[in-house]
Amino acid sequence: MNRLLALAFLTLSLAASVRAAPLRETLSLDEGWRFHLGDIARESFPGGQGVNLYGPDITYHGAKAGSAWGAAARGYDDSGWKRVDLPHDWVVEQPFDEKALKQQGYRPRGIGWYRRTFKLSPADRGKNLELQLDGAATHATVYFNGSEVQHNWSGYSSMYVNLTPMARYGDDINTIAVRVDAADTEGWWYEGGGLYRHAWLVKRSPLHIATDGVHANPVKATDGQWVIPAEVTLANTGPEVASARVEVAVFDAAGQRVAGGSSAAVSVVPQGEALAKLTVRVTAPRLWSIDAPNLYTVRTTVLRDGKPVDAVDTTAGFRTIRFDAKQGFLLNGQPLKLKGTSNHQDHAGVGVAMPDSLWEFRLRKLKEMGSNAYRTAHNPPAKELLDAADRLGMLVMDETRHFNASTEYLQQLRWLVRRDRNHPSVILWSLFNEEGLQGTEEGMEMARVMNAVVKQLDATRPTTGAQNKGHLGPDGKANPKNAAQVLDVVGINYEADLYDKIRAAYPDKPIVSTEDTSQVMTRGEYTTDWKQVVASYDEVFPGWAATSSARNSWEAIMKQTSFAGGFSWTGFAYRGEPTPYGWPSASSHFGALDLCGFPKTEFFVRQAMFVKDRPVLTLVPHWNWAGKEGQNIKVLGLTNAETVALSLNGQLVEEKKVDPFKMVEWQVPYAPGRLEAVAKKAGREVARFAVETTGAPVALRLAPDRKALAGDGRDAVPVTVEAVDAQGRPVPTANLAVELALRGPGANIGVGNGDPNSHDPEKGNRVRIYNGLAQVILQSRRDSAGDLVLRATAAGLKAAETTIEVRAVPAMAAVPVLAP
Ligand code: GAL
Repeated sequence: MNRLLALAFLTLSLAASVRAAPLRETLSLDEGWRFHLGDIARESFPGGQGVNLYGPDITYHGAKAGSAWGAAARGYDDSGWKRVDLPHDWVVEQPFDEKALKQQGYRPRGIGWYRRTFKLSPADRGKNLELQLDGAATHATVYFNGSEVQHNWSGYSSMYVNLTPMARYGDDINTIAVRVDAADTEGWWYEGGGLYRHAWLVKRSPLHIATDGVHANPVKATDGQWVIPAEVTLANTGPEVASARVEVAVFDAAGQRVAGGSSAAVSVVPQGEALAKLTVRVTAPRLWSIDAPNLYTVRTTVLRDGKPVDAVDTTAGFRTIRFDAKQGFLLNGQPLKLKGTSNHQDHAGVGVAMPDSLWEFRLRKLKEMGSNAYRTAHNPPAKELLDAADRLGMLVMDETRHFNASTEYLQQLRWLVRRDRNHPSVILWSLFNEEGLQGTEEGMEMARVMNAVVKQLDATRPTTGAQNKGHLGPDGKANPKNAAQVLDVVGINYEADLYDKIRAAYPDKPIVSTEDTSQVMTRGEYTTDWKQVVASYDEVFPGWAATSSARNSWEAIMKQTSFAGGFSWTGFAYRGEPTPYGWPSASSHFGALDLCGFPKTEFFVRQAMFVKDRPVLTLVPHWNWAGKEGQNIKVLGLTNAETVALSLNGQLVEEKKVDPFKMVEWQVPYAPGRLEAVAKKAGREVARFAVETTGAPVALRLAPDRKALAGDGRDAVPVTVEAVDAQGRPVPTANLAVELALRGPGANIGVGNGDPNSHDPEKGNRVRIYNGLAQVILQSRRDSAGDLVLRATAAGLKAAETTIEVRAVPAMAAVPVLAP
């Protein structure tokens, strides 16, 4: 569940049932950080505030608890540092530089420091206090009150730090300092830099539910009844042994309690953990599916001496999943092809510092394309993405970053499974992507260990690996020593020419295309210049992707009726790995949608192949080809109908039969006007679509994705900036600079236009319309209400304005904030 809703729900219902203050406080620490780009020498502030130095000897004094030197120290003067709020990605603010890492998008990365202070009330003494940092790119060292408290060598896993023993109360100030090292990288794509996810302080009872300690994933028992076998990890940071009981209550979407139960008493020793278990039976729940993502709330309450001391809400969805060697994937017993996309995690304007609502925006776009599955390539996602996937009905292949079976990295894998195993959207764990060891004995043994670790924590979802080689031995039979042997679902990246052989070699295993396609296109371009732009005709792909246009790839997958489906590379374009060109291209030309989420031709290709329940018809390209009169223009009809009749200015060009994968294509001598397609099924018109030659741009137009924002300082909305002609038609060939001005309770947090070759700054009040489109992302201010008015102006064009209503958020629903 969305944390905001969860908090509101918890607060409301606990108030109603036990009339007590909320049992735990989850306070946002997103606001009020100080940030410094670059490293800070430890000697710049020896010892820290209040520390007696007997000489400038860091090897002695700096090694003591509470006495970290430099920017890690308490009392370090950071008043000259920049004020930032989280999520924050400093790399997206940097200028492009040809000498910077190509794979990371040609932007300098480096090292940065963050600091933040806060006070605790004396009444907080005795509580358990946990700092949660949801993600730092790339490596982080966390200090609290001058002590080093955490190292995290993964830019994708959370840090949960128990602050309890080091906390200070009353007027004494607590200091968090984080050194983030983004000079290191973990991937071959843009990873950003900084504290790019949320930060929280949780205050809870010393006897409490450990973070990610609720496992309450509904399963259908063999007798056909639904049960929630709940396992709750309790922790105790108090001084005495605590005896606890756990109660679980299940609420439907209307807030009605539909089931519940109570565990036996367990005892938890100081600084220890214990597991409370119970099974809750739920009668005839509404199932969760991609079309009807019905959700329930599971409230887990810990009681000590009969009194509730801590409670956590988690989301549950009742659904069955199964991967089958013959039938592919089944949701609730029904075969369902996974029409998936693989995605990285950056968006125009904001880099990896994604506002929660952009995840929802992105998933909605993919659903509009007809996609039902999402692969978090190649790392654990933000939890807000999974919340959105639960709510919208998107199936998720959840991938870990590191193929590594060592103790430290298995801990990261455990963290991932514990955090994500209650999400109904998650259907598959992916343990690696294209690893050099995948086809070896070593790789097989590593996969075996990782698979076993996953199974201890979640026996309901299968594992796979995104494997691009090594499934077959030299004899063409199953390679006896490769990862696919020990994972539940055989994952295939590319290798479409081996589909039949791999299928035959693994007759008893389910198979999914974990990755395919790698289609490159530049939005709005229809000629490949082999320098920086690729025509949007679904016909160019890099060498390793063999014959994989979007159409060929999906056709190959659909021919394998036993395959569970596929995950194309990619849903959205991303920074870095600038394929097929290097500098000045800083982003990939991959993606059915560009970096802003504007559809490319691949979007319409997939929509025509994926959508079955309504007619789909689009024509590509636009019809603005002044100077090409009489020359042939290649036109694609992208449709799920049976025939398409194309006419130009009322004259029939040709009616063609549609191939369900290749669809239809014409060469049309250009004449300005109206190119119109009529799609038919069984001879009857089912859809009509036209492109028209437009005039020159005369005015701007602004189109917000939503008309209202919650005034919580978190909600964000993309606004499309277009140029229109005298008849109000968007001009697809417009390329022009726009100035932006904003008034009201919000901020412009980033701009973009989906041009992979753009070197424009992504922050500020200027944006360039690229092939007809640009985007501004607006975010509300906290505790605000009123009209947020965006105005756009461009030389020689009529200005545009749009108003977004910022609505006050009731105190109960607001995310509580801990003041810096
Ligand atoms: C795949 C890889 C992806 C991306 C893609 C580009 O092999 O898994 O991360 O690099 O190629 O085509």
